[in-house]
Amino acid sequence: MYIPGSGFFNHLADKGLRQAVSDKIEETTRAVLAGIGVKEARALLRGDPPTEKPNPRYRAQVKSFTLHLRPKFYQEGATWFTHTFRLGFLSVFFFVVETITGLILMVYYTPSPDVAYSDMINILSNVNYGKFLRDMHRLGAELMVIVVALHMVRVYFTGSYKHPRQFTWLTGVVLLLVTLFLSFSGYLLPWDQLALWAVTIGTSMADAAPLVGPQLNLILRGSQDISAGGLLRFYLLHIFLLPLVAIIFISVHYYKVAREHSISLPAAIEEGEAPPAKVAAAKRRIDILPDLITSEIMWITLTLAGMVLFMAFVYSAALESHANPLKTPLHTTAPWYFLWLQGMLKLGDKTWWGVIWPTVIFLILFAVPYIDPGPSRLAKNRKAGITAGVVVAISIVVLTFMGTGLWGVPAPPAEEIIQEFIPEEGVGLVRELGYAGLPTGSALPAFLCDRTNQIDTEIPVDYIPGGVYDVSDPTTYPGGEMNHVLAELRDAVDRESNKRGNNFFDGNLQFTVQDWQSDLKRVSVIVTWLEIPEGSTDNIAISKCFEKVLYFQQKSDYDLLEWTVGR
Ligand code: HEM
Repeated sequence: MYIPGSGFFNHLADKGLRQAVSDKIEETTRAVLAGIGVKEARALLRGDPPTEKPNPRYRAQVKSFTLHLRPKFYQEGATWFTHTFRLGFLSVFFFVVETITGLILMVYYTPSPDVAYSDMINILSNVNYGKFLRDMHRLGAELMVIVVALHMVRVYFTGSYKHPRQFTWLTGVVLLLVTLFLSFSGYLLPWDQLALWAVTIGTSMADAAPLVGPQLNLILRGSQDISAGGLLRFYLLHIFLLPLVAIIFISVHYYKVAREHSISLPAAIEEGEAPPAKVAAAKRRIDILPDLITSEIMWITLTLAGMVLFMAFVYSAALESHANPLKTPLHTTAPWYFLWLQGMLKLGDKTWWGVIWPTVIFLILFAVPYIDPGPSRLAKNRKAGITAGVVVAISIVVLTFMGTGLWGVPAPPAEEIIQEFIPEEGVGLVRELGYAGLPTGSALPAFLCDRTNQIDTEIPVDYIPGGVYDVSDPTTYPGGEMNHVLAELRDAVDRESNKRGNNFFDGNLQFTVQDWQSDLKRVSVIVTWLEIPEGSTDNIAISKCFEKVLYFQQKSDYDLLEWTVGR
């Protein structure tokens, strides 16, 4: 007889090669799979019933550390897709994806303003699979925020926060906050313009907190402005403190779900409103091994495949230009999941709308199970609760829209037009034309824009001629893709002229492309308009201009950017 551990070669002499190898495989498989042998493993994968008695699957769950975290079975109704949409499971999944990709990215990243940005460039260009890992980390973070928020929405609308799951809900709200701040703290790390300014806006909200605002802001930023101290603090929050809190709370949350109360059944089943056959089906046992595990493997595979395809064809995590504390980009916004907060800030006082109200909202969120203690989970018995949920959801969408640059205080019209076509961060239609797509010519412009934003019609004699295109005059258009861009620019100028009244009318735009040096083209875009100065009594319009200049290098696919008013 083969005695496990008695020595492979003794056994080989007794039983021959074939039996000895198969016994060894059996022994190893049982050791690795906590008592599950080869035959049983195959049955598990095929979805066949257990091959031994007592059920080795339950034994595996009791003995194996990772499996014993899971319950042995759920009631089938708790696992119906339309009840949970697997959102809780996917939240855990994304947390794992973030942990793995984050740990690898940490190897190549140093949290110092001197090198953080060049580390990012290095990750994107030199590190094997660096871009893939970064995209995956960033995409995973965004998806985790979405999935956790949707999970909360589903728990709310199915009334699953009610007795006995009130505490599970409380730990869930903490997890929502941790997820948001995990994502937000990571935002700063690339040390680009987008990061610096989004986080500057975010932390300036802390400044508005009553009594402790300035101190809180200082603790977060490490100095008056975000610099080396701030970056290190955000880094430590991102890689240490917040993940630690997340792990503790996910463990408690999951313990409550898996061990204490199990996942709720759909309300109609729990409260006897469904037909008996459906109730019976919902209460059938469904074992973790193999049914749920195989379904979870399928979800992991599908989600990973979806992410990889999305990254291959659509998604690329943004990296803008190096952070510059002296230059605020136009239309800086908070990350999208905090836009609702930015929207609220536009309603008035910073302390009231940016601090007190959000605190009240989260306190109400914590208290939901206690505000609504009614025992029934059925929607028909929770009309007020469901209506409140829908109103809050719509408000969040509206506030998010209000938080974008599309709503509220507009920038001066000329800057809006330039920002739309030549954004400070990102590409925009003009840069897309590239060096080759910008035809030069030999005309002189009709006017220049001087340092005081006044039109200057005296063109210096040594001025280099170029291609001069007047957007309101299609006969000057050079053809090709340029025509399309010029027509779009004309529409944008017309749109602003119609919208802005006395401070922007009769708008026009002059687009000039010059051969500035060999291999270097200079593009000047001058917006001109008439305006009646504020407070003017005689209603006399003055003409104004605003210019942006770009340089395009033939041999590089990026351009050198320069802000100028006049020359
Ligand atoms: C990182 C964030 C979170 C993770 C990893 C997580 C994980 C899970 C998992 C795996 C379940 C099992 C059922 C399911 O898949 O739906 C669950 C249930 C639950 N979660 Fe979460 N969750 C998170 C955030 C939240 C939030 C934000 C809330 C609410 C504020 C919440 C409240 C609940 C409640 C009340 C249950 C029990 C639901 C039931 O029994 O039907 N969770 N959670």
